[in-house]
Amino acid sequence: MDYVTGVLTKVMVDYFEDDYRRIEHAIDVLMHIEIIADSCQDELEYDDEILIASALIHDVGIKQSEAELDYNNGQTQEKYGPPGAKELLEGCGFPEEKIEMVCKIIGNHHTKSRFESVELELLKAADQIVNKMDG
Ligand SMILES: [Fe+2]
Repeated sequence: MDYVTGVLTKVMVDYFEDDYRRIEHAIDVLMHIEIIADSCQDELEYDDEILIASALIHDVGIKQSEAELDYNNGQTQEKYGPPGAKELLEGCGFPEEKIEMVCKIIGNHHTKSRFESVELELLKAADQIVNKMDG
């Protein structure tokens, strides 16, 4: 495991505390995003750190949404996700110039993409696969 994956896995686990379902989901999404990204690395250009961070903390908005509203859905996740992700990434020394993009991806992963990003499309694909397997 590389350094960024290790640090961000710890950040994510600390954040979700005993919510093992969310922790497992994040790790499953990371596994799948790496498989998909590896298989198309000749055709696609993506940033590894943005990809890993997006996969591991894409659902941080769920916790905040449930705490404040007692429910979560795609829309509330996209609202609460980016500020939560920004705080976590800033707190662990993640490369500063990549934080905004990770937050943008997290704020877009449940709707029709509002901008073009390989990492966003890879996250959506991996999240869908994992959600299908869980469903
Ligand atoms: Fe997800």
